[in-house]
Amino acid sequence: MRAEPVSLDAPLAAPQRNLEIKARDADPRRSLELALELGAEDRGEIAQRDTYFGHADGRLKLREQDPGDAELIQYRRADEAGPRVSDYRVVPVGEAEALREALDAALGTLVVVEKSRRLLIWEGVRIHLDEVEGLGSFLELEAPGEGERLSELQAKLEVGDLVAGSYSDLLLQTPELLLEAAEAAMHKAYAPHSHFKVGAALRTPTGAVYAAANVENAAYPQSQCAEASAIGALIAAGEREIAAVAVVAEKLEVCPPCGGCRQRLAEFAKPDTPVYLGGHQTTTLGELLPLSFQLDS
Ligand code: THU
Repeated sequence: MRAEPVSLDAPLAAPQRNLEIKARDADPRRSLELALELGAEDRGEIAQRDTYFGHADGRLKLREQDPGDAELIQYRRADEAGPRVSDYRVVPVGEAEALREALDAALGTLVVVEKSRRLLIWEGVRIHLDEVEGLGSFLELEAPGEGERLSELQAKLEVGDLVAGSYSDLLLQTPELLLEAAEAAMHKAYAPHSHFKVGAALRTPTGAVYAAANVENAAYPQSQCAEASAIGALIAAGEREIAAVAVVAEKLEVCPPCGGCRQRLAEFAKPDTPVYLGGHQTTTLGELLPLSFQLDS
């Protein structure tokens, strides 16, 4: 994220500004070749582990890297696929693990992004050739200030396929994290009567995840499905929208939500909202509940 090491006479962790682009990179070896041909300075590979915290205004992540020191990065950036301004602060961190634990306890961890970054510098513009775990290859350009040289370099490196959002957003949109959250909840299910444990996880448009399990009762009809429990958690957190759903069951590879839960989900989701049924099947709420009841239909 940073343009250059923070200068010693600048105010500590002063806000800085970059102009940036991010793109999928179909041919990282070719990108590296092109960058080296342009005479970009090669700073080598860096292993980076970014922990993104919840409840942040903008984004807050702790970066642990090798080689390099840990830093806390606060930033705000438009989610556009084109060149976008990023306003950010970088704070050097001495005790990374302790800070990670403290921030996790206070704010919660949204997602951890691990990547290998090849860093090159051309005319003051940072070139990142990133291999991101679970996402693939990306190229980023970060130009300090108003980013005068950015579009020139973008053309020279033949960058296409621009991506909006951050790696954390992209990762949060994959089914795996939501399925993991559903599975963790499933193990905590209270199902002494059916012995059929179910976990459900709901993601909101901002990336927050609410997971819960089924809760049974000796008076059987009083039992509550995992989906209903998860909706309760989402609503109690002040949220109102569901962007993706995952449902897992201990004893079934594919556990489609019951009819009642389809209607419950439809209250807060859209027909094209993805529903991940275990790791093997993806459907949408519209497919599960066509012609759903709505007061205004
Ligand atoms: N169950 C769910 O939690 N979600 C569904 O969509 C289907 C069924 C639970 C309810 C009950 O505790 C157990 O599974 C057996 O029906």
